[in-house]
Amino acid sequence: MSDNALYTDLSGYYDLMCADINYRAQSNSAHRLQQIFGNGGTRHLDLACGTGPHIQYLLQEGYQCSGLDINQPMLDLAKQRCPEADFTLGNMCDFEIDTPYDFITCFLYSIHYSGDIKHLTDCIRSVHSALSANGVFCFNSVDKNHIDNDLSAKHSVHVENSVFSFGSSWFYRGEGEKQTLKLSIEKADSNHTQRWNDEHPMVAIGFAELLALLAPYFDVHVFEHEHDKIVAWNQQSGNAIFVCVKKDNEGEI
Ligand SMILES: C[S@@+](CC[C@H](N)C(=O)[O-])C[C@H]1O[C@@H](n2cnc3c(N)ncnc32)[C@H](O)[C@@H]1O
Repeated sequence: MSDNALYTDLSGYYDLMCADINYRAQSNSAHRLQQIFGNGGTRHLDLACGTGPHIQYLLQEGYQCSGLDINQPMLDLAKQRCPEADFTLGNMCDFEIDTPYDFITCFLYSIHYSGDIKHLTDCIRSVHSALSANGVFCFNSVDKNHIDNDLSAKHSVHVENSVFSFGSSWFYRGEGEKQTLKLSIEKADSNHTQRWNDEHPMVAIGFAELLALLAPYFDVHVFEHEHDKIVAWNQQSGNAIFVCVKKDNEGEI
């Protein structure tokens, strides 16, 4: 089954699954980082935008937003949520644009969906080409060397007469450039329980290697994975926010 099919199945549950994520805080944090490091422009593109939660909040900050995702059912939900934004079906590892963007985001670790180092490099190159001068690329990432296979995040939501329970966890076997995101959904009502499990293949990378991939294209600033304050990365944490300012080096790469 392709990643596309996985999110087709998931799209109807996606916003419930993410009900405990503070998208407003994440979007505000991204906006503050763009104000500090960016070029002041308002053209924004969210890669792997899903159902458009970041776009919803960044529109309120005055951005002219677009979203790109590989899954049409997710984009359909995004368009319902944000009718004033533009949405395009496409692959973040291979996309071209007509007019450059000032600010490109990619959240919820979605850059790892590029799948392997080659496609991650293609994604970085595509983002660089799509940015205006001094434009900013902001994303979050997990360092493969810090993945604890025993950790998982869980939460439950009551919807009408059912209880939905969602689980997610990383798995990395300790070597190579592949990790998986394991997702589980359980829907229980008084009569029966339905369970749904899936594993999404993703690229595994350490932060040192990621910084080396970004370096030819961007000046990179790394921050702790916090959204209510801006704190420099302590060089130890396995989750971080990357703020990448486009280098003015056309022709040298
Ligand atoms: C975990 S969701 C994140 C959605 C949204 N960014 C959020 O924070 O809620 C991952 C999204 O990545 C999309 N995706 C996966 N691979 C992709 C690719 N190669 N190019 C563009 N989108 C992709 C999926 O369709 C899905 O909507």
